[in-house]
Amino acid sequence: MRRPLVAGNWKMHGTRASVAELIKGLRQLVLPAGVEVAVMPPCLFINQVVQGLDGKSIAVGAQNCAVEAAQGALTGEVAASQLADVGCSLVLVGHSERRQVLGEGDEVVSRKFAAARSCGLVPVLCVGETLAEREAGKTLEVVGRQLGSVVEALGVGAFSQAVVAYEPVWAIGTGLTAGPAQAQEVHAAIRAQLAAESAEIARGVRILYGGSVKAASAADLFGMPDIDGGLVGGASLNADEFGAICRAAGS
Ligand code: PGA
Repeated sequence: MRRPLVAGNWKMHGTRASVAELIKGLRQLVLPAGVEVAVMPPCLFINQVVQGLDGKSIAVGAQNCAVEAAQGALTGEVAASQLADVGCSLVLVGHSERRQVLGEGDEVVSRKFAAARSCGLVPVLCVGETLAEREAGKTLEVVGRQLGSVVEALGVGAFSQAVVAYEPVWAIGTGLTAGPAQAQEVHAAIRAQLAAESAEIARGVRILYGGSVKAASAADLFGMPDIDGGLVGGASLNADEFGAICRAAGS
C-alpha cells in the first residue's frame, strides 16, 4: 500500500511573523494517522519551521536545490547536502514555475533529482502540461517526456525513493482544477511508463496531484486509484484549509 503524502508548497510567500503564525496553526492541527504531511517553506525560513514544528509529525522540505549535491562555489544556490543538514527530508525538482520563469530544462532537472537522492532527500519531480499543450492533445507526450528524461538519465531505480507530482500548468494558482478522471488518466499513464521499466517501482511510487487543490476538491481527487496525495500551493498557506486537505487524504 502506498502511504498518501500531502505537501504544502509555500512558494515565495511569508515573513518571519507570518511564518510564526502558520507554524502555530500547523501545530494545532489534528492530522490523520497514515498520511505523511510535509511543508516546503522558502529556504530562508526552513530553520524557523524545522524548530517550530519540532515534535509535530510534519516533515520539512525545500522547493529547489542546486545541481551540485556538495557545498561549494555556486553563488546564490543551496546544495541538497545543506538542506539535509538543516533537517529537510524532501525537495521539489522541476516545478513548472522554475521550468517556465527560470528556463530550467530536463537535463538540469535530472541533475537536481540526482543531487537530492545522493544526500538522502526524497525528490518530488514535478511534471505537467501547459494549456496550449493540453488543447493540442499533447498532455501525455509532454508529461512522458519530462518523466522519461529523468528515467533515461538516472534509471528507473532512482524512483525507488522518489515522488512524482502531476501539476497541469493551467491549474496552478488559477482556481481551475483538473477533474478527478482527467487527473487519473495522466497519473495512470505516469505509472504505466514506470511499470514498463519496473513493475515493482511503479507500484510503490507515490504520484501526487497539484493545481488549485482545495479542501472541497481534495477528497474526490484523492479517491482516484493512482492519486496518492497532493502538492498544495495557495491552500497550504492557511493551516486549517491545509489540515482539511490532509484529512481528506486519510479518509
Ligand atoms: P496551487 O499551486 O495549489 O496554488 O495551484 C500548486 C503548486 O504549484 O505546487
